[in-house]
Amino acid sequence: MAFETIIGDQILVAKDWLDRDELVGIPTETVYGLAGNGLNVKSVSKIFEAKNRPYFDPLILHFKDINAIKTCVREFPSSAYKLAALFWPGPLTLILPKSEIVPDLVTAGSDGVAVRVPQHPIALKLLEKLPYPLAAPSANPFKYVSPTCSQHVYDQLQTKIPYILEGGPSKVGIESTIVSFLDEAPKILRLGGIPTEEIQKYIPEVIVDIQHAPNSSAIPGQLAHHYAPKCQLIPLDSFKGEKFPKEIPLLLFHKSKTKISDFEYYLSENGNLKEATSSLFSTLREFDKAGFKKVYFEWMPDEGLGKAINDRLSRASTKEN
Ligand code: TXA
Ligand code: MG
Repeated sequence: MAFETIIGDQILVAKDWLDRDELVGIPTETVYGLAGNGLNVKSVSKIFEAKNRPYFDPLILHFKDINAIKTCVREFPSSAYKLAALFWPGPLTLILPKSEIVPDLVTAGSDGVAVRVPQHPIALKLLEKLPYPLAAPSANPFKYVSPTCSQHVYDQLQTKIPYILEGGPSKVGIESTIVSFLDEAPKILRLGGIPTEEIQKYIPEVIVDIQHAPNSSAIPGQLAHHYAPKCQLIPLDSFKGEKFPKEIPLLLFHKSKTKISDFEYYLSENGNLKEATSSLFSTLREFDKAGFKKVYFEWMPDEGLGKAINDRLSRASTKEN
């Protein structure tokens, strides 16, 4: 079905579409999501279709608060609860043993379900009005850069969905950190808006298990080639020539006195990692808008949110094989 996609701020309009098993673009603090009724197989399959996403890539369920999650999980281990109490609402996703009411389609047949309470007033207001959680992957076509404003969602999903809820630019700008509690030791499966160091402070036993899988049979969130703009991204440290050509665009962490390229882009002029994180995806989209074929980039400092940015840059610059 083709829709005339509308961007609006009407929570009840969004609810109405969702109640009718249709999809709505929703703002969250991390990135915009493509949301549908997470307990309804019809809505959930529409998400996979609209995104062109393979069915083996599971979805995150979004809830209004920690209590609303209880019917969807069999267990809530104490260390998971500790993180939830500390960081929710916020950019953290927990993988917990699923209950029967969660459709297998949501978890791609896995025994674990990914759950999160987002920190965006509009997303929370919407969730409060719904008797079901929202399944919501990032609202981008499979493998492309995640959207951080309503226009990004519109540019790519117009006609596929009826409504996009306006919520301004996503403040965090990178997806949630995913921690799995399915095994003996908790595992960080995806770097994101909560730095690893922050999680380690509260659960020191956590293991970082970020797959950088080169093949397409792995979970796509962990695929090597992911989050990629159309232009080719190349690490500056792999540049072999004597002098960097001024006409090639360059993505830098911050501004400095000497200019290397005539087309320098800064993730944060003053070198603030939080700001750099929030501008990453929109900057990558700008490169495609400008029609650049090739952009060199420098790695961010390998600490805190810099690690999550480097993870995305690394995946975005890995060639598809
Ligand atoms: O910040 C976010 O998490 C955003 C916003 C919209 O909430 N959502 C998001 O969803 O990034 P998505 O679908 O683009 O990425 C979720 C990733 C999947 O690719 C998968 O790797 C992992 O989460 N995931 C989801 N459910 C899982 C499960 N049951 N077991 C293992 N990994 C899971
Ligand atoms: Mg995604």
